[in-house]
Amino acid sequence: MNNKYSGLQITIHWLVFLLVVVTYCAMEFRGLAPRSYRPWFNMVHVSCGITILVLMVTRLLVRLKYPAPPIVPKPKPMIIGMSHLGHLAVYLLFIALPVIGLVMMYNRGNPWMAFGMVMPYATESDFDIVDVMKEYHVLLANLGYWLIGVHALAALMHHYFWKDNTLLRMMPKKRG
Ligand code: HEM
Repeated sequence: MNNKYSGLQITIHWLVFLLVVVTYCAMEFRGLAPRSYRPWFNMVHVSCGITILVLMVTRLLVRLKYPAPPIVPKPKPMIIGMSHLGHLAVYLLFIALPVIGLVMMYNRGNPWMAFGMVMPYATESDFDIVDVMKEYHVLLANLGYWLIGVHALAALMHHYFWKDNTLLRMMPKKRG
């Protein structure tokens, strides 16, 4: 049996990682640039966010079809249960967060850009929805920092403390 994720799953995993970094940075550092650059930061944010949504849904479908490669040596059942729960939380969060962002932008009722194109928007703005979505978006985005931190810490624990193949099965394949 293969002891690694497929090339597609590994590529999507690290691509999503890079996109998440850019998406967060675009928001965290937008205040440092002159105001005229604001629309550019916003467009980078929403374009990467939408791409993350597409990639996460793709990943989830692939993951439901193909089981994860086994961890060797096999961890305790409690560790396996916790990692399944953690992975489910990562999938749900990085699908819900961009969907909420899209609902927020749509209901603002103003033209907005992603990938250099004007995206669909409501004919009438609904700021009640926008305000609620914004609250959830900020809350989930902050939760995302913790979840990514715990996810990375768990991967390092598997590698250095329990000394199993958890991290290696998600590393790019060596040539030859
Ligand atoms: C996984 C993808 C995403 C992540 C990690 C993310 C994360 C964030 C973060 C950290 C902020 C700053 C929150 C704060 O002010 O403390 C933010 C704000 C925002 N996000 Fe996202 N976001 C994602 C996807 C999207 C998408 C797809 C859209 C829209 C299509 C979107 C629209 C917005 C908007 C409009 C704001 C600014 C809210 C405001 O200050 O008025 N986001 N996001």
